[in-house]
Amino acid sequence: MQTSIYAKRRAGVVRALKAAGGGVAVLPTAPERQRNRDSDFPYRHDSYFYYLTGFTEPDGWLVIQADHKAVRTTLFCRPRNLEREIWDGVRLGPKAAVAQLGVDQAFSVELLDEKIPELLANQNAVWFPFATHKGLESQVDGWLNKVRGRVRLGAECPQSQHDLCKLLDEMRLVKDRHEIAILRRAGAISAAGHVRAMQTSAALLRDGVKGGLREYHLEAELLHEFRRHGSQFPAYTSIVAAGANACILHYRAGDGELKPGQLCLIDAACELDGYASDITRTFPANGQFTPAQRTLYDIVLAAQQAAIKATKPGKRFTDPHDAATRVLVEGMLETGLLAKAKHGRVDDVLESGAYRQFYMHRTGHWMGMDVHDCGDYTEPGSKPREEKDATGQRVMRKPSRILKPGMVLTEEPGIYVRPAKNVPREFWNIGIRIEDDALVTASGCELLTRGVPVDADEIEALMRG
Ligand code: GLY
Ligand code: MN
Ligand code: MN
Repeated sequence: MQTSIYAKRRAGVVRALKAAGGGVAVLPTAPERQRNRDSDFPYRHDSYFYYLTGFTEPDGWLVIQADHKAVRTTLFCRPRNLEREIWDGVRLGPKAAVAQLGVDQAFSVELLDEKIPELLANQNAVWFPFATHKGLESQVDGWLNKVRGRVRLGAECPQSQHDLCKLLDEMRLVKDRHEIAILRRAGAISAAGHVRAMQTSAALLRDGVKGGLREYHLEAELLHEFRRHGSQFPAYTSIVAAGANACILHYRAGDGELKPGQLCLIDAACELDGYASDITRTFPANGQFTPAQRTLYDIVLAAQQAAIKATKPGKRFTDPHDAATRVLVEGMLETGLLAKAKHGRVDDVLESGAYRQFYMHRTGHWMGMDVHDCGDYTEPGSKPREEKDATGQRVMRKPSRILKPGMVLTEEPGIYVRPAKNVPREFWNIGIRIEDDALVTASGCELLTRGVPVDADEIEALMRG
């Protein structure tokens, strides 16, 4: 356990709290959740809590007192308990937690309601994550009430409450070296999963598989590759979409059959040591693009290249999206997906939003511990101005976030063609997305997920091999 990284981050919280007027921060980890009788969902810690502790057991709480000199950090955790440990596994326990996690003190979580009011007394403000943990607001109310009960004994009650997420989001948005190293590994493992799925698809179609090649066959290959490299979970529910299923944006891997001549869209990636990755590749099930598929594929790839070029310090978060959308629109007009006679030129289509028939999502999002990671998408401290939102409505909002080294975002343009009158039939039911993860560097960006080919010729070569 690399205590120093977490201690450094906790010290960062102390600095940020002080800069915001001081106070005490209270942060629980995620609860365990029951799936059905006697069976829980796989446990996943809370990302904020993990960011500041590296501790993955349930029932953990972290308290940070900005204004206290001797004791700044207090951890609550499950007490050692031989009976429970025989059934559920080893617990760290408060005694070992101090040395192992580098906190100033630790108590059993059973003492939470007794100790937290003591930690809240004589602090001017309490910070906790708003609207994230069910029931936390009323728990805080209960603790504040206890502090108020002691005012005649000289205790002062915090005067204000603040959202701790806002403060931690800013820290998490810019990744440190430790995080970048894990993100690189997560990206490499996920890429290996995609390579394996592509190769398996071609091999199974070539050799034949009883009952036909199914989406779940390829999902199994992905999960196998993730897990065998030590990934604990997929970072999100895997999408393996055969043919027309690719036009359903949140399709899950099902039992759809993959036939020669169809495309397969896979959006799947692993979580490694608490950090996500996020990759999409679209490839021909048998390893050979048809001319129509190739035409649209190359447009999406060119759009992604334009987005990547627009990903560098000083650019805004929306610049990659705008660059990609322009290239997609050029392609839609060239191919007749959008008729020039009806829709006009590129700028007309960008203005009218007609491209949304085929491209209805954004080109990226922050990525980190959460696949859709936290962090403001607008520039803090700037003034709202009139802009168009994603649906073309004019709204007042702050300008988009300026990119800085250490930020990580995805580049994921796509084209999805549902059958419709006036849409050339050769493109019907083709859905293509290409997605990579980009780390903003000093001069541009580093793609963390290029261990799997993205160029159409290279995909065909890999699948032939
Ligand atoms: N896999 C989720 C996304 O691409 O945003
Ligand atoms: Mn994504
Ligand atoms: Mn994705």
